[in-house]
Amino acid sequence: MAGAAVPPAPAAPQPRQGPGGRRRLRDDGVRSATSVEQSKVEDIVQEVFDAFKNNHHDVQFILHREKHFHYLKRGLRQLTEAYECLDASRPWLCYWILHSLELLDEPIPQAVASDVCEFLSRCQSPQGGFGGGPGQHPHLAPTYAAVNALCIIGTEQAFEIIDRKKLLEYLQSLKQPDGSFIMHIGGEVDVRSAYCAASVASLTNILTPMLFAGTAEWIVRCQNWEGGIGGVPGMEAHGGYTFCGMAALVILKKEHLLNLQSLLRWVTSRQMRFEGGFQGRCNKLVDGCYSFWQAGLLPLIHRALHAQGDTALSMSSWMFDRSALQEYILLCCQCPAGGLLDKPGKSRDFYHTCYCLSGLSIAQHFGSGDLHHELVLGGSDNRLPTHPVYNISPQKVIRAVLHFLQQPLPGQEPSDAAE
Ligand code: FPP
Ligand code: ZN
Repeated sequence: MAGAAVPPAPAAPQPRQGPGGRRRLRDDGVRSATSVEQSKVEDIVQEVFDAFKNNHHDVQFILHREKHFHYLKRGLRQLTEAYECLDASRPWLCYWILHSLELLDEPIPQAVASDVCEFLSRCQSPQGGFGGGPGQHPHLAPTYAAVNALCIIGTEQAFEIIDRKKLLEYLQSLKQPDGSFIMHIGGEVDVRSAYCAASVASLTNILTPMLFAGTAEWIVRCQNWEGGIGGVPGMEAHGGYTFCGMAALVILKKEHLLNLQSLLRWVTSRQMRFEGGFQGRCNKLVDGCYSFWQAGLLPLIHRALHAQGDTALSMSSWMFDRSALQEYILLCCQCPAGGLLDKPGKSRDFYHTCYCLSGLSIAQHFGSGDLHHELVLGGSDNRLPTHPVYNISPQKVIRAVLHFLQQPLPGQEPSDAAE
């Protein structure tokens, strides 16, 4: 939200032009804390763009695959003390690193895969679901991360770790009468839980109509006047929650219940006109991770509008500026030493590495089926594939779904039927 007004400043300098004539912020002479912060970010981004233009006469956009690979490989074996605060998010670290590696098309050595499986099995709770570390209480967020990590590994050993019967019981224990889910026993309700529950249930074939009765209708109540989705009904729209709400509805095949036009207007307005990356909410700063949370919404909205017979969709690139997003990620979010980050001046981390690379993939492969348009800035060496609903590789989604489809729904095993 806009910050409080600060005393009038000397006449604002004329807005300069960015790449491709992109316009900088015009504050119309009224400075606020928000506009000052925004101008500072634009200054740094302008410096990066200028340095790039001056150094590359024949413009090249390079994804530093090798550097990112080495950063990620080290993280799998050893983490610095900066990660101590993520001690309750260890399955997330596994997922962010493994997904980044699969995006880069780097194979996971068998021994590493097996160690990760063993570690995640120790995070699984006797109650069902996964905790943030061995012996921790189960929670839907690490449950989502652990199931995604195991599906990326995609071996029998990985699939067999998931106790589907207990997982279903755990999800049932979190379900609320109004259709929503709490994140953990005694915890808060928000739209992330609906996505985490729908994602793990659909991948492992434990999704039942009863488990998700009323969930779609509850998510739709979280879409607010802005057009995006807030954490709970009545809250400010935010990209993280909006992705979760939309992706959950896609899994539940209920996305048509949303006002898709106002959602589209909201998310496209979150792409920053100068930086090219996305902000998470109105009047906030660009951040590389929203390259996935926000841009990831666009193929989902595109598909939903197409299913409704929207004929304006044959040209898919009108939805957002895919080149501008790729420029932001490749120029402003790559750490020269490997790994990716929020914005220039910030430190790299595995979360931003995962979501910047995932967003890059989304910007490259927009649309689906006959309406799929590939646009890979810097050439095919930069190409990365992801699934816009689960955010793991499309082949790994198919593999997991086919694997678990062979297993009956817990409680409906042939021996139960015979009793
Ligand atoms: C605001 O952070 C962030 C939120 C309100 C929630 C973000 C939610 C997600 C990223 C989705 C998580 C998804 C799963 C699957 C668990 P901020 O105020 O620091 O950032 P901002 O200034 O960019 O809004
Ligand atoms: Zn971020």
